Amino acid sequence: MIDIDLRNLSSSRIGPDRGLELESETAALGPLLDRDAEALTARRHDASEMLGWIDLPSQSETLLDQLAEYAVTARRRADELVVLGIGGSSLGAAAVVSALQHPARALQATGGEGMRVHFVDNVDADVIRGLLDTLDPSRTLINVISKSGTTAETMAGYLAFESWLRDALGEGAFRDHVVATTDPEQGILRPLADRDGIRAFAVPPSVGGRFSVLSAVGLVPIALAGLDPRALLRGAGRANDGAAQPFENSVPKRAAFAQLASAERGATINVLMPYSTRLRRVSDWYVQLWAESLGKAENRRGARVHAGTTPLPAVGTTDQHSQVQLFNEGPFDKVVAFIRLAEPSMDLTIPVPRAGLEALDYLGGRSFHQLMNAEQAATAHALAANRRPNYTLRLGALDEEHLGELLQTLMWQTALVGERHAIDAYDQPGVELGKIYTYALMGRDGFDEQRAELADAGVEG
Ligand code: PA5
Repeated sequence: MIDIDLRNLSSSRIGPDRGLELESETAALGPLLDRDAEALTARRHDASEMLGWIDLPSQSETLLDQLAEYAVTARRRADELVVLGIGGSSLGAAAVVSALQHPARALQATGGEGMRVHFVDNVDADVIRGLLDTLDPSRTLINVISKSGTTAETMAGYLAFESWLRDALGEGAFRDHVVATTDPEQGILRPLADRDGIRAFAVPPSVGGRFSVLSAVGLVPIALAGLDPRALLRGAGRANDGAAQPFENSVPKRAAFAQLASAERGATINVLMPYSTRLRRVSDWYVQLWAESLGKAENRRGARVHAGTTPLPAVGTTDQHSQVQLFNEGPFDKVVAFIRLAEPSMDLTIPVPRAGLEALDYLGGRSFHQLMNAEQAATAHALAANRRPNYTLRLGALDEEHLGELLQTLMWQTALVGERHAIDAYDQPGVELGKIYTYALMGRDGFDEQRAELADAGVEG
């Protein structure tokens, strides 16, 4: 279960200049968010709207059965999993695996076995060379993930790992060490998988990259890591139930409200600060979800709006000795969203200090979890005392169900903010031009005009 505490956004806590009149402002915005959620839900069966993510929590049992069966076979063959993907084809699974696998070993916190997962989301020879030099190809599985099946970064990585596997294992055996996740029909990867007899899972066409963590994009690596996709989806279903509730009982809508109302008051930076090292990568996933969905030049009506607030990742307590100075005393341009765990995934008692260390007595006998949560509460209160808006998402525990609920809640939050601003939250026109210039610099056919333009401007690859 997740709940949300908005009190540190209120004028009674942070003063009339920046604080919200929670009662009247929720009364004004709440019904609009109720309507937005209904509109999104009503449009979700139109594939062109890219709202398929809403239905992923109740996706067919067939995929889940196939996944479970595949995970058993694959885990007999391999101990190491290399995930090749970028953006939405990597960040979701990375967030879930980092949050739920044992931090020190490739073992699930509950003791189940899973593969050790390496996420390759950059064209960085240091990382790729490092893996090729140290992994044993006969015990390694490659999951190449690209919805479009054409992304240069992912496909370059695939070429490197495919040739490594072919050289080591031969034509026949290499295919058992590759699994692809891609569009059911389009792109280069699908025909390649069909031709080479590579196992392939489909990304539903109505689900975009950054909203795809609960599709095969995220679920294949998550299952191979030994985690429970069904429990993740169950939790996400709870977020859908929450989104269907009236505003006052709806965590997704209240989270969207927090961002919309804070942005109105000048908070152009949206900080996500979980108090948990395991949730650190959830912030990276959220940054991409928020930035690529909501940073748009035009709204759906074609008006120039240059919309979007800037997401900023932070982690407690680490950033208390770093960014929190800026959050407390810098410009009044941020709203901080904390994530706090009611129950820790693991805990440890701080030993009672020996004689001579009496100054540390206040720590002795308390748990690390108590200290973590005391620091979160103290930081939230200090920000409020400095008239800085903040709110807290409280998770009952850190497991598949709670994480599924958190991810789907944050997807709803993003979608609702997009809907309120009449933004297309599902396209990314702003990343296309850079791709085109890259093709030109790399000598790809069909990009002569851009090559000439770059040469004129003195740009070299
Ligand atoms: O969110 C998105 O749509 C993007 O970040 C994509 O996930 C990313 O560009 C990778 O695309 P693809 O899966 O087609 O390789």
